[in-house]
Amino acid sequence: MITVVIGTHFGDEGKGKIVDYLAKDCHMVVRYNGGNNAGHTIISPQGKLVLHLIPAGIFNPDCICVIGPGVVIRPGSLYAEIDALNKIGVDLKGRFFISSRAHLVMPWHLALDELEDRKRKIGTTKRGIGPTYSDKIARNGIRAGDVLLPDFKKKIKKLFEERSKFIKREYNFTIGEDLNEWLSTEEKIGEYIIDTEPVIWNAVESQKNILLEGAQGTLLDIDFGTYPFVTSSSTTASGACQGSGIPPMRIDRVIGVVKAYTTRVGEGPFPTEIKDKTSRMMREKGEEYGATTGRPRRCGWLDGVLLRYAVKLSGITSLALTKLDVLSGFGEINICEAYRIGDKRYDYPPFNIKDVQPVYKTLPAWDDIEDKLSRNALDFIKAIEDISGTKVGIVSTGPKRDATITL
Ligand code: GDP
Ligand code: IMO
Ligand code: MG
Repeated sequence: MITVVIGTHFGDEGKGKIVDYLAKDCHMVVRYNGGNNAGHTIISPQGKLVLHLIPAGIFNPDCICVIGPGVVIRPGSLYAEIDALNKIGVDLKGRFFISSRAHLVMPWHLALDELEDRKRKIGTTKRGIGPTYSDKIARNGIRAGDVLLPDFKKKIKKLFEERSKFIKREYNFTIGEDLNEWLSTEEKIGEYIIDTEPVIWNAVESQKNILLEGAQGTLLDIDFGTYPFVTSSSTTASGACQGSGIPPMRIDRVIGVVKAYTTRVGEGPFPTEIKDKTSRMMREKGEEYGATTGRPRRCGWLDGVLLRYAVKLSGITSLALTKLDVLSGFGEINICEAYRIGDKRYDYPPFNIKDVQPVYKTLPAWDDIEDKLSRNALDFIKAIEDISGTKVGIVSTGPKRDATITL
């Protein structure tokens, strides 16, 4: 069984928790897009850990974890994660691999992300993601496999000089990162770099359970998101095939992770955003602060129009609903079932999404979440299913692995 797990909105839907939960029955988890802009939180038996690059299956000792060719890797960040895992006794040897085709985030990419965002104000994570993907598409990128080539250091030193001069000239800025330190980290990840295609194909052909872990969310997709307020990779289920090397016909199911309300970090349109006591309650109860940058997340009601869009774009076969516990005691809750611009009603996000008004369905909230879901919680789930046209298969009622109900 091959399963893709994606975010249905603007990221931070709880993908890490759901992947960790599902990985208990998996042979392999493959990350397929983004880089250390992602922050996937897992509460494992060893405690809380935020993973930025390593797949969230890593806490299941029998699970092989692969960083696929569609990911961009900052070596220092990856090494810090490897180190943190080793320190809590998670062994990676023989079960963690990095695709030789994955591109590397270089010191100049970090500098350019910072400098460009000062002008364009997308509110990026400043992790060098956009510039790294730009260089990849322009055919100027450096790939993980290059690290293993004999002339690598010489090539990088030359490139560093060229790019440093360019950045100094264009932006009057000196790149902060120390190249020698960067190169030494680079060597430390070398032992994990392999051609991942045969390893992945082998698992596919042996009918193993494979999970493809998406980063970010559908509305941050480079093609279908709220451009230009998006990330620079494909966050949909199609991106999972391209970023892993698994053919589309082999995908069996696509699980969309949806939070009981919606959040967004960074700039860009957010039709159901609210800025009042209720959104503050969502932020505080839901601990809605960026797992990567610590920025407060913008909060609002669950946007069912965007959910429907995510279902259509990725062929989502079932939903994993997270953070149901956070809305306990909210009195009344809203879910957006359509948009309006003037008299025109939309059941999908139109090009001019910043002009839309949400149309809400209002429901009573529940007092508490127990193992057995109350009538009101079940009605909320039913409303989500009706609006999205998709069944909810998993309900998450807390950050820990065991706070999970399958329906
Ligand atoms: P991801 O990027 O999609 O993996 O999500 P993040 O890890 O950035 O953010 C989700 C946050 O919600 C994390 O702090 C999780 O520990 C937490 N979380 C996940 N599921 C639940 C849930 O059902 N209830 C509560 N209260 N927290 C949850
Ligand atoms: P996970 O995987 C939430 C947002 C940034 C910014 C925009 C572009 O944890 O859900 P980038 O650094 O990618 O060029 O920034 O995308 N963003 C995320 N928001 N969760 C994420 O990942 C995100 N990754 C990027 O805040 O608005
Ligand atoms: Mg996150």
